[in-house]
Amino acid sequence: MGAAAGVGTLAGFTPTKFAIGQQAKVRVGTLLPYSGTYARLGEAITNAMQMRFAQSKEMIGSREIELIKLDSEAAPPKATENTSKLINSEKVDFLVGPVHSGVAMAMAKIAREEGVMTIIPNAGADQITGPLCAPNIFRSSFSNWQPGYPMGRVLGAEGKKRVVLCYWNYGAGQQSAQGFKDGFAESGGEIIKEIGVPFPEVEFQSVLSEIASLKPDAVYTFFAGGGAVKFVKDWAAAGLKDSGIELTGSGFLTEGVTEAQGAAAEGLRTTLHYADTLDNDVNNVFRRNYKEMWGSEADVYAVQGYDAAEMIRVALEATDGDTGAKDDMIKAIENTVYDSPRGPFKLSAAHNPVQNFYLRKVVNGVNEVQSIAVEALSDPAKGCRLG
Ligand code: PHB
Repeated sequence: MGAAAGVGTLAGFTPTKFAIGQQAKVRVGTLLPYSGTYARLGEAITNAMQMRFAQSKEMIGSREIELIKLDSEAAPPKATENTSKLINSEKVDFLVGPVHSGVAMAMAKIAREEGVMTIIPNAGADQITGPLCAPNIFRSSFSNWQPGYPMGRVLGAEGKKRVVLCYWNYGAGQQSAQGFKDGFAESGGEIIKEIGVPFPEVEFQSVLSEIASLKPDAVYTFFAGGGAVKFVKDWAAAGLKDSGIELTGSGFLTEGVTEAQGAAAEGLRTTLHYADTLDNDVNNVFRRNYKEMWGSEADVYAVQGYDAAEMIRVALEATDGDTGAKDDMIKAIENTVYDSPRGPFKLSAAHNPVQNFYLRKVVNGVNEVQSIAVEALSDPAKGCRLG
């Protein structure tokens, strides 16, 4: 066998890895909201991914990355069709998305069946790193249970006795509330009322009146993006800021939106796996670069996008850009300790980050870290049979 048996002699063979000169680009499809109440979340994730890929040009098995962006509209009914489009028509090598847990449930079902390498850069649907976990699906973000649990612990330890839960009434809000309840359970306090608001509704007047008349010690909320801006402003406008009722939430209540919330956000305490002021080298450089490249402050969504891109980089580096070597890519992602702006984290056996959760407080529009509320918190991952 001579050289003639090499590349190019097979009819229809498309060289992807070993061709000399031009190689096919690695196709990364994003299914993220670029419109609607979660639009700014999708944009921050995408911006940070682009930044990470630009920084790691030399390190991804010498193959360039091509982003194929699709607007999920944070709409679960459109998720199946959109996911199929990216996998079957666009033939992406990696699927990155979504933000919304309802979209995630539909997307993950197809991703499992098709075996496409998938990184979830936000949506917290507990099931995906629980009973629906899969070898090819990873999360660079959190499970919905995770940010709720630490706030429950914090308010419980402070002796808050009567708490109201208020959230967008879909998977993310419900599971976030369950995390809070689990953290609060041993304190002897009571959840006096749960108020669900249909997603993505932002008409909060009757909810705020009800809270004012219940006079709880504190309220734990799940709202994000445009809805979080509105809730926090309405809370202040209704005179509740100085009422003695403490407004708290998962950190999404104040992530990426403090500028829009203005004075209404000042003093709010939340728990999350990130805070603007985390003083580690990776975060300091990350925030500086992001601001320089995009002209706005980084937030947790940007961090999650950055780390999703990092997972892809790790996979491609391990296989020298061979996107067919799935088992090796999976092992590489599983075995890495991620040096993230949030601090180092590793993945659980169910492929969800094991990470610190910080108690934060808004001071002059910045989510400042107060303390580590729970260290290296792992999702319970009930029902996952990986690992
Ligand atoms: C979700 O639907 O899982 C979700 C959406 C927005 C967030 C967090 C979680 O900020």
